[in-house]
Amino acid sequence: MTNLSRRRLLASGGAAAAAGATFPLWTWAPSASIAGVGDGLDPDYVWDVRADPVIERLYGEGIDKVAEINEILEPWTTNDQPVPDGLPGYLADFIEEARQLPTWADQGKLKLAGTFNEERYGFFLALLYTLGSGLISCAIKREAWSVYYSYGGSDMRDRIAKTTALGYDVMDAQGWTASGRLMVDSVKTRMVHAAVRHLLPQSPHWRGVGAGQEIPISQADILVTFHSLGTWVMKKFTEWDIAPSQELADAFLHAWNVDLYLLGVQEQYLPKDWDAAYAQYDQVMGPATGATREGAELAQSLLDAVIGEGNPVLRHELESLGRYVIGDAYADMIDFDDDPVLAPIWASAVPLVVTSYNSSVPHIPIVSNLLPEAVHTFIKIYFSPGRSAPITLPLSNRPE
Ligand code: HEM
Repeated sequence: MTNLSRRRLLASGGAAAAAGATFPLWTWAPSASIAGVGDGLDPDYVWDVRADPVIERLYGEGIDKVAEINEILEPWTTNDQPVPDGLPGYLADFIEEARQLPTWADQGKLKLAGTFNEERYGFFLALLYTLGSGLISCAIKREAWSVYYSYGGSDMRDRIAKTTALGYDVMDAQGWTASGRLMVDSVKTRMVHAAVRHLLPQSPHWRGVGAGQEIPISQADILVTFHSLGTWVMKKFTEWDIAPSQELADAFLHAWNVDLYLLGVQEQYLPKDWDAAYAQYDQVMGPATGATREGAELAQSLLDAVIGEGNPVLRHELESLGRYVIGDAYADMIDFDDDPVLAPIWASAVPLVVTSYNSSVPHIPIVSNLLPEAVHTFIKIYFSPGRSAPITLPLSNRPE
């Protein structure tokens, strides 16, 4: 695998990519991973050595063929369905292999992780994924650039729905069962990421931003996105004094690790415990984030998708609340409003809401009403329509 990765790196102009790389020296050791061993190659120079050639071959057969494959794969939605007939052999073989859970997947832990979406943590997970991770993703430079210049960047509402459906299912016990969709959606997403690696380098816009890599969505990039979701949320739970039990926190990490595996991340990069995850977070998050025009625009599209264009008062309220949730550094990167009057209100109201949800006293609706209705609507819209939007291979980059 190492040799393949190195060959691919060189064959794809990796030397130039290395020259523009923004990540510091990779020091996180494979001994901290689920595999326990590995070549320790910097994941910024490793992509998906199994999926990428398969998807490259598919696109080589022409865009009509890709569209045909999308049609064949559309009815393939649940974990228990066989891989559909009619696919080229090389693609069917890949999907069959990629849909298998790793041998270390623990059904008990996956089921336990599913309890996260229930009453006690569900609201915070939703709040933090939407007004937290969703916004931070716009401050992750490469993610912002690749989303903006890929096909999905032109329709944020659709894109949000699809991405969130996957993130949500990771903590949904149902997602892993026979009738769930997580394994299928993850394999489809892995294929979409490989498709983006094929298509995006052809975009003059993407090449123009100088992302420091010629091929997007490296293994390091996927780890960064995971940390902006799972690890950041767990840090926030701790900061807000609502950290789950160790057993539940471990189950949460386990579910993420299984999903990252399905997304094509090598086991040598999957953190074996939270200490290892935090160490990896510290290594990759800082250099990956920063202000970009595209990220600030995406953050606004994200608000548009939920509250509609216009609505300046609501928008200002949400920007200010978002700033409280993600902190000034990330909020500055996406150019969110800073309101000296609202800021102290959020600083008092949010902890009150947290305390009310966290107490054994039955949930007090009036306290959660301290958050503007827009927040509830935001979360509802963000999390609801995903099921209807099938994950499909993009046929082009963002239309001009
Ligand atoms: C597509 C989830 C990491 C960029 C998708 C889709 C999902 C998803 C569900 C399919 C949505 C669709 O059909 O449009 C995830 C998860 C990640 C992750 C769970 C990591 C934990 C990344 C990273 C990048 C990225 C690191 C870039 C640096 C994209 C792009 C698309 C995509 C450009 C295609 C958008 C389009 O053209 O439609 N991702 N992703 N993703 N993802 Fe990711």
